[in-house]
Amino acid sequence: MCGIVGYTGAAPAIPILLDGLERLEYRGYDSAGVAVVDPRTGLQIEKCKGRLQFLRDRLEALPPLEGTVGLGHTRWATHGEPNDVNSHPHVSQNGRVAIVHNGIIENYAEIKDFLLQQGVRFRSDTDSEVVAQLLEYYFNDCSDVMDAVYAVLARLEGAYALGILCADMPDRLIAARKDAPLLLGYGEGENFIASDATAIISHTRQVAYMEDGEVAVLTRDGIQVFDEYRRPIEKQLHHIEWDVSAAEKGGYAHFMFKEIMEQPEALRQTISPRLRDGQVVFDELRLDDGFLRRMKRIYLVACGSSYHVGMLGKYNLERFLRLPVEVCLASEFRYSDPLVDEDTLVIVISQSGETLDTMAALREARSRGGYILSIVNVVGSSIARESDDVLYTWAGPEIAVATTKAYSTQLALLTMLGLYMGQRLGRTSPEEYAAITAELALLPEKMEQVIASTDVYQYLASLYFNRECVFFIGRNLDYALGLEGSLKLKEISYIHSESYAAGELKHGTISLIEDGTLVVSLATYGPLLDKAISNIVEVKARGAEVVALTTDSNRERLEKIATHILTVPDTHPVLQPNLGVVPLQLFAYYIALHRGCDIDKPKNLAKSVTVE
Ligand code: F6R
Repeated sequence: MCGIVGYTGAAPAIPILLDGLERLEYRGYDSAGVAVVDPRTGLQIEKCKGRLQFLRDRLEALPPLEGTVGLGHTRWATHGEPNDVNSHPHVSQNGRVAIVHNGIIENYAEIKDFLLQQGVRFRSDTDSEVVAQLLEYYFNDCSDVMDAVYAVLARLEGAYALGILCADMPDRLIAARKDAPLLLGYGEGENFIASDATAIISHTRQVAYMEDGEVAVLTRDGIQVFDEYRRPIEKQLHHIEWDVSAAEKGGYAHFMFKEIMEQPEALRQTISPRLRDGQVVFDELRLDDGFLRRMKRIYLVACGSSYHVGMLGKYNLERFLRLPVEVCLASEFRYSDPLVDEDTLVIVISQSGETLDTMAALREARSRGGYILSIVNVVGSSIARESDDVLYTWAGPEIAVATTKAYSTQLALLTMLGLYMGQRLGRTSPEEYAAITAELALLPEKMEQVIASTDVYQYLASLYFNRECVFFIGRNLDYALGLEGSLKLKEISYIHSESYAAGELKHGTISLIEDGTLVVSLATYGPLLDKAISNIVEVKARGAEVVALTTDSNRERLEKIATHILTVPDTHPVLQPNLGVVPLQLFAYYIALHRGCDIDKPKNLAKSVTVE
């Protein structure tokens, strides 16, 4: 979704803004723009539809835009088609203010009507332009820009992260936030705003996360922050631990491939500090035994791949806890009148910690008294901050839109959480607990074996890259795993694909199987191997070509019936999807590569989905 970067300092702003925007490209966008305040000529704006490179080319062809204070923006269109005019920054009618915005102004139509009646002329079809125009309207009436900013914010409904520049104040930058991510970066003689830390990490690691209702005024010498009542507040500073190289390709062709390869290390970082002497230890967790004992129900709430982690989590948590666990899509949960009360644990799963649907579901659950425990990758993100408890996946920054290492670490952490609760409640057998924790410790090493060679995936991709449709089938954990395999394939290669519970085939879907249909059969879940084999026989009898994924120890049995075979090392059945997902990621990756797709930035998708 939209990305914002802002700079105030002594250096020319444009190169810093363009570098920041490049690092935000992964969030997804369809146009880009920059604005600087030139002390002699006022606001200078350049913006255009398409890749950031088009903006760079345009800027290079023009006389340099001077200014040491500026804003940059990548837009992911919501209101108004992607074109030059609808791109941000938006400048007010008389050029006094320019703004960039991430989010949606829900009452923009009403504000626009009001301003049109006052004679204001609009240029774009966006909701965002009303902010620039309303700001100038109020600013014309008062001498204090902060009076104008607060007056505007009081009228806005919806979500916003805002960056504001004023022609009259060439030394400062104003920022405001409600329900959309924005952080402040504290440098030496320079300060920043950004949608996320990747944009500014090469300049500073000292950041503060803006809270809803806050307004910040940045100059090169410092940052002042005010609450919604305009009272000054002290922000807590956070040090970003990861290095800038973590957000760079480092010689790999794509971030997605790099992140697939980083999975063993990401798992190690996530698992090993929490596994001591065969025990799962969560030093950071506040969840107490009193709550655990009265807990009657668990909801797992998430979107997309994080929801697929929840699907797997349902099987495992019910197994460990013998409690009803429901897994819900966040966008459905919030409107479903969910059965959440003070005895309900709501586990919210989100890589970015900023997904609006997930955030809204969290708030819905909290308003009903649920205990919110989130599993999040981005430290200090909104979901992390609004939860009662947070477990961080230490996957490092994930840049490719299609998640890989965040998914793997979420899955491991959720399993560990299940084991932890199961043990505290005495509902997981000590033998099972010991067997799974022993295998958890070996998971990074076993995953290294999976990624050691990619030849087979490249070969299969060369055979199947031009298919129009692919089916994934599996039972139990393999069914939930198939959902993720199917999503990976469709989102980056644009091949239509569905995942079915294999036992359901005979209730309808099998009519779609014909000569040459490609079926990826997941047969890693040992307890149901015989059933998986029957399903392979069933689809083969109707002409399907079957790529079967199983474990090393079952290779021989599957080899006899599948067209092609993929294997992963054996581990405990509840952990098998952690290894099984990697071949599916690589299969999707190489197919997309063969098809010449933009793997890291698939069309229409955004990394952090901050609109409903
Ligand atoms: C798919 C993918 C998405 C996200 C979903 C939720 O590869 O990454 O489906 O899982 O948009 O995002 P988070 O986890 O950030 O809440």
